[in-house]
Amino acid sequence: MAAMVDQPASKRDRYAALNRTLAALLEGERDWIANLANTAALLFSELDDINWAGFYLLRNDELVLGPFQGKPACVRIAIGKGVCGTAAQQRASVVVPNVHEFDGHIACDSASNSEMVVPLLRGDELLGVLDLDSPRFARFDEEDRCGVETVARTLIAASELTRS
Ligand code: SME
Repeated sequence: MAAMVDQPASKRDRYAALNRTLAALLEGERDWIANLANTAALLFSELDDINWAGFYLLRNDELVLGPFQGKPACVRIAIGKGVCGTAAQQRASVVVPNVHEFDGHIACDSASNSEMVVPLLRGDELLGVLDLDSPRFARFDEEDRCGVETVARTLIAASELTRS
């Protein structure tokens, strides 16, 4: 019988494992800010080739910087502006293979070359966006989008929302 050879885990399997880790990390904790902070830290430490991972939260019809990992970033983004504001306006994920070709991209870290933004939705309500930046062009594909949309759902299901 041929020897079993360990196959490297597929990207889909790695996201499934990441989402299980996230659910365990957030279990028993309902605090929205704490859960946003730990989610950003988990994404930043577990995903390859990421230079920024974090959140912008909807406050009075604009996006305001929330918990993140990476270099300091711009604080306020209008709905419809940049990749984050576009994802918020469309209430849909936006995957940008080359940020230098995205009209209106807001550059926070000059190392970023590609970006993906996923909306945080509780039913019809927009809570904010989850933003990932990479120094690698075309870092994010459909599997990343599905995996990170699951991250957003896990985070929202685990948390009690607070607004201040
Ligand atoms: N590039 C984003 C701004 C946020 S930073 O990447 C952290 C945008 O265009 O909306």
